[in-house]
Amino acid sequence: MADMKQTIAGLLQATIYRVFPDAQGIPEDLSGLLEVPPDKKMGDYAFPCFRLSKPLRKAPPMIAQALAEAFDEPETARAEAVNGYLNFFLNRGNFAAETLSAILAAPERWGSSEEGKGRTVCMDYSSINIAKRFHIGHLSTTVIGNSLKRIYDFRGWRTVSINHLGDWGTQFGKMIAAYKHWGDKETVEKGGVDEMTKLYVRFNTEAQNDPALEEEGRSWFKKIEDGDPEALEIFHWFKDVTLKDAMRVYDILGVRFDSYAGESFYADKTAAVVEELQEKGLLQDSDGAKIVDLEAYGMPPCLILKSDGATLYHTRDLAAALYRKKTYGFDLSLYVVAYQQDLHFKQLFKVLELMGYDWAKDQMKHVSFGMVSYEGQALSTRKGVMIYLDELLTRAQEKALDIINEKSPNLENKEEVARQVGVGAVVYATLQNNRIKDIDFWWDRALNFDGETGPYVQYTYARCGSVLRKAPDLKDIAPDYAALDNDEAQQLLLLLSRFPAAVADAADKYEPSIVTRAVTEIAKAYNKFYYEHRVLDENDPAGTRARLDLTQATRAVIKTGLYLIGIEAPERM
Ligand code: ARG
Repeated sequence: MADMKQTIAGLLQATIYRVFPDAQGIPEDLSGLLEVPPDKKMGDYAFPCFRLSKPLRKAPPMIAQALAEAFDEPETARAEAVNGYLNFFLNRGNFAAETLSAILAAPERWGSSEEGKGRTVCMDYSSINIAKRFHIGHLSTTVIGNSLKRIYDFRGWRTVSINHLGDWGTQFGKMIAAYKHWGDKETVEKGGVDEMTKLYVRFNTEAQNDPALEEEGRSWFKKIEDGDPEALEIFHWFKDVTLKDAMRVYDILGVRFDSYAGESFYADKTAAVVEELQEKGLLQDSDGAKIVDLEAYGMPPCLILKSDGATLYHTRDLAAALYRKKTYGFDLSLYVVAYQQDLHFKQLFKVLELMGYDWAKDQMKHVSFGMVSYEGQALSTRKGVMIYLDELLTRAQEKALDIINEKSPNLENKEEVARQVGVGAVVYATLQNNRIKDIDFWWDRALNFDGETGPYVQYTYARCGSVLRKAPDLKDIAPDYAALDNDEAQQLLLLLSRFPAAVADAADKYEPSIVTRAVTEIAKAYNKFYYEHRVLDENDPAGTRARLDLTQATRAVIKTGLYLIGIEAPERM
């Protein structure tokens, strides 16, 4: 189904040339100039005719008048001239029929496309650090990435989701040294990541008075690098313990990765990168370290090797970018990482470009997002300003369960719905605003279930289901779509018809919040329609059938919208 705006723009274009055959300088696509009046009494679309006064050398009211008289498309819309505007009023019954038959032909595919067919996108998100607990600082990257993966899948791309684990660096040598001195298997097994953190903190405290410890830490890291079996065994075990914790969170959120190749995966692939940089004449000495000078681009140098020969975050990211290009042949490579790393990625992309990889210019994208603070304070484990994801999700589920026990004590699968609703509240709060906005986390806000929230949208989905369950079987009754000519139904239809454009826009801008807003507007419009109009009316089966079609289409699109932002849709709440 063509976008209604596009359709009107085309018909308007034809009318202009019919009335003014010699017109010149008329914009080719008028759809961008069509406005949506705030009040439906002014029409569904309005065209400001002053836009044509220059090319036509006439006053806007005259143009509007002439076009209104000539516009003859009763199947689509009628046009009225008011104060130099051409106001279009859709043929509401036809608009309803067209929109609903298009959606109901394949309800769960509405908004999908083949746009990405044959193309591959790599997505680096979540990318947690080993031996650190999963906290709300990693919530945005996890849910934005997960949503983008679903959106790109829906648009026909092949997606490769990558958790670029932070699992390389001297701190892991220190952790092993600490473990050998003061740790034991059972305690770490039981205490998990927290226990590893304690060991690390103790190491740093004791090393202040005992420089030999630092040496031990370095030597354990060297052993990891050299593949010493004992070092590797402990290191891999640390990883397993961390990942086991993280997996619980990923499972609750419904997040999956195609690859967990993290920084350590590239340890044996950095030498080739260093060599290539050398060959291409990009490497320079700087106090014994090796760098790529980026002064000409207004950036500090990109560090490639420390003076002791150790690689850096950048070195491993260079290796990773080349590996991903070679392995997956991506057409697009996204990094969903907070804006603190803006410079890191600018440097990374620039170095790749200098190496002669032109694709780095338009195929590499840093999808950055705002910082998370906690009730006005910067996150800090040390100062105790921190919220762990498992705690957040547990509290959200508990609160959801309380509400369910109060409002729907007879619901069958309470625990399951509490999980869906609790997670829905948290994910929604994270994807509500443009990703670049900083988020100040407040418990009451994240666990809010009223107003514009995940649970509100989920509730609307369940409401649609309940309406459909109560309906009689009207399959053999032809719907009377003229029954949907009221403002509330029309507003809802308009939003449903624009949903595919919202999904496309979200993909192009790497902005899941566009889908969040679209699905919220649809939920609000359905509730408004529901309060103003009785859906089931025994005396009007054909009208009822039309309202049920609208309900069914709404239900399907809400489910898709929620899915695309990573939220489940409970059948009953
Ligand atoms: N582990 C890093 C962090 O927590 C994020 C890694 C992002 N991905 C990458 N390829 N650099 O800050």
